[in-house]
Amino acid sequence: VKNINYTKDLIKKINTKKISVGIIGLGYVGLPLSILCAKKGFKVYGFDIDESKIKKIKSNYSYIERINNKDIKILNKNGFFSSKFKNISNCDIIILCVPTPLKNKRPYIYHIKSTIKSIKKFLVKGQTIILESTSYPGTTNEEILNKLNKDFDIGKDLFIGFSSERINPGVNENKIHNVPKVVSGHSKNCKSVISNFYSQIFSKIVIANKIEIAEFSKLLENIYRSVNIGFINEMKLVADRFKLDIFEIIKIASSKPFGFRRFDPGPGTGGHCIPIDPIYLAYKSKKLGFNPRFIELSADTNIKVLSALIKKIFYLLKKHKIPKNKAKILILGISYKKNVDDLRESAAIRLLDILLKKRIKNISFSDPHIKNSINTRALTFNSRGINITPQNLSKFDISILMTDHDKFNYKMIYQYSKNILDTRGRFKVDSKVTRG
Ligand SMILES: NC(=O)c1ccc[n+]([C@@H]2O[C@H](COP(=O)([O-])OP(=O)(O)OC[C@H]3O[C@@H](n4cnc5c(N)ncnc54)[C@H](O)[C@@H]3O)[C@@H](O)[C@H]2O)c1
Repeated sequence: VKNINYTKDLIKKINTKKISVGIIGLGYVGLPLSILCAKKGFKVYGFDIDESKIKKIKSNYSYIERINNKDIKILNKNGFFSSKFKNISNCDIIILCVPTPLKNKRPYIYHIKSTIKSIKKFLVKGQTIILESTSYPGTTNEEILNKLNKDFDIGKDLFIGFSSERINPGVNENKIHNVPKVVSGHSKNCKSVISNFYSQIFSKIVIANKIEIAEFSKLLENIYRSVNIGFINEMKLVADRFKLDIFEIIKIASSKPFGFRRFDPGPGTGGHCIPIDPIYLAYKSKKLGFNPRFIELSADTNIKVLSALIKKIFYLLKKHKIPKNKAKILILGISYKKNVDDLRESAAIRLLDILLKKRIKNISFSDPHIKNSINTRALTFNSRGINITPQNLSKFDISILMTDHDKFNYKMIYQYSKNILDTRGRFKVDSKVTRG
């Protein structure tokens, strides 16, 4: 039998664009990646255990606001979508984009484990498996490599690596191919196959020497944000004591052309990354006998800012002699970040939940990206969002700006709101506006 050089064969196939890419988990990461691959001319096999997503894709319907139906159509031209894993055998490159949430405040990597279990029987020699889900250093080796190295000769007939995902939701999504792509692989061959593949799609590849370095770098990027946001949120609480506006202070400090990177305070972090990823590293670090303190400190502070905001709501109500049970409150922006429709871990949802528990009944929200009633793991809120109109605004005692979407009409909000609690520094503090 002729000795097959899988590395050479696969690289040749990649460079002539004759590969099929299998993407497992078609959410915020997997769906745009599938589109990117399809646009580059690769055949795409998409897998998701959520049948409703498969159905929507097949009927050219996008379930993510910032992805339009036209792109789903492109996907269907040379793509095959299923909730069953049989077609894994046809894929040259298999990319895992499954969720890595927390359960009981701990990393929950069940989805990675269950994916490997389900696809194992369909794997064939010559394939590549890449983890794109964010997790603690060691995950790719422990959960993928160690589960397959009995049946395959890793680096010879199966290639394994990790590549981090760097979407900036609402900002660079149409240009993710221009964001430098971190790649890593188990061996020289793995690195070579994986970097060849990604350089077909991304304009710049950054190769990490070890898989764990790549995994750690993703966590470092997000912890850097979490810690700096925690820090600036703490500075906001300090500035409050001095009766100074933190946004004015930041504006002055930002004039320094070196050694100062601007971070803005807010009502607390949200999304799939910042509140979750740091805990992945802290968990593993503690297991190794070291307790990293910045991680917990910033997470605590990013929660604490919301309590400070709630105190201000009650202070304002008292000041205007509005009894709690009569208070009418409008939440402006319910998603966790501006210009996106993502509610995961949103501080505005936490606020809504707390206010309801404090028996404030008359609450509405307005969000140009979320029209429907709210149904998340954390909360069900049956009323739909309202539109920003002079009449609507003037009905409420306090309008709280939680998420400063660009689509909001700030002039109108200012003109017709009775009182504004602004957590984002969109308005100047005056008799109507309080910094939140
Ligand atoms: N959303 C972001 O901006 C972002 C950025 C960087 C990294 N990440 C990381 O990427 C990963 C995916 O995140 P996301 O935001 O796309 O999550 P998501 O929840 O939007 O999508 C994940 C998808 O995987 C599917 N799924 C779950 N288990 C599966 C299985 N066993 N087989 C097949 N499909 C399965 C789910 O049904 C869902 O559609 C996470 O590890 C996350 O930390 C996300």
